Amino acid sequence: MISPSIHSILTFASICIAPSFASPEVAVKRQSTCPSVWTDVASDLQSTFVSDSTCTDAARQAIRLAFHDCFPGSCDGSVILANECTDRGENAQMVDICGTLGEKATSFNVSTADIIQFAAAIGIASCSNGPVTSFYAGRTDSSTANPENQLPGPNANATFMLSLFSAKGFSTTDLVALAGAHTIGKQLDGSAMDSTVDKWDSGFYTEVSDGSAPDALGSDTSLSNSSETSGEWSSVGTSSSSFENAFVPAMEKLSLLGNDKDALTDCSDVISSYAAGTLSQKGVVEGSDVGSEAQGSGTTAAAAASSSESVSEATRRGGSFGELALVVFVASTVFLELVL
Ligand code: HEM
Repeated sequence: MISPSIHSILTFASICIAPSFASPEVAVKRQSTCPSVWTDVASDLQSTFVSDSTCTDAARQAIRLAFHDCFPGSCDGSVILANECTDRGENAQMVDICGTLGEKATSFNVSTADIIQFAAAIGIASCSNGPVTSFYAGRTDSSTANPENQLPGPNANATFMLSLFSAKGFSTTDLVALAGAHTIGKQLDGSAMDSTVDKWDSGFYTEVSDGSAPDALGSDTSLSNSSETSGEWSSVGTSSSSFENAFVPAMEKLSLLGNDKDALTDCSDVISSYAAGTLSQKGVVEGSDVGSEAQGSGTTAAAAASSSESVSEATRRGGSFGELALVVFVASTVFLELVL
């Protein structure tokens, strides 16, 4: 017979042990990572986007496509998924890149909306002297077309563009900086918008202002000489760094239209590694909780899951050691009680 005192000890011990056995996993905050698929996509795009140490026409198209997917409403892939690319005249220059990126989204199992923004960032970084812009993954695709007539035409004037851009949250500096993407731009007939079209540089601003650009857009000329925007045109165009400092945040704002940045995963390290030529050494990138994990998370999501499992496993093993000590203590007490 077990004495009442031993019974009490056993009851106490079982209360302590039972919950641990019933729920051995201790809640561990999982860490989010940038899906490593983006490193693979970057390597893949490099062969299409770089030639003779600068960006190709495919990269130019990709940079412009980011604008055309987002600006009419939301960065949601609809420029490809709702056939805006083939159905709307303003996208005529980008039909090829739409086809290419649509196929790559499927083959890499990433969202079309994401690959469009990613390709733009890689495209910009592929240009000689191109800046590193951010990239966040996790946008949701839509095959519903965005509203029409939201994009300014080649001869839009500054006043019209200002109202269009400010309605979507862009400042005058943002507008002027974004138009600077034309530093590597070509018209549909192949003519260059600045004399150093293979280089991402602020000389574009000066050339448009003084009329020496080979084939400037009427819209850019208006931004350069309108009293509403000429001040920003001069200051953004002062140097490569003033251009970059204005362009990078404006491009980020554009790439997030219709999306919540906090719900996305920061994959900007892939762009900086690409620009630095260290893509192959690229590891995973820390981000927010795995709860908001981006899609296309194949390899890296598996790495994140296994790392959180190993932490959890270690924690569980720590718990088991405590439980074992308690069992040994109770067993010894029972043994002593019976023997004595
Ligand atoms: C600010 C208002 C803008 C206007 C009015 C405008 C207009 C145009 C036009 C008319 C073309 C030439 C297209 C053709 O000949 O068919 C063009 C090309 C281009 N645009 Fe814009 N654009 C604007 C903003 C932007 C923005 C925000 C970006 C990207 C951040 C961008 C990137 C480009 C690029 C890279 C090209 C050259 C494409 C190529 O060479 O294939 N543009 N743009």
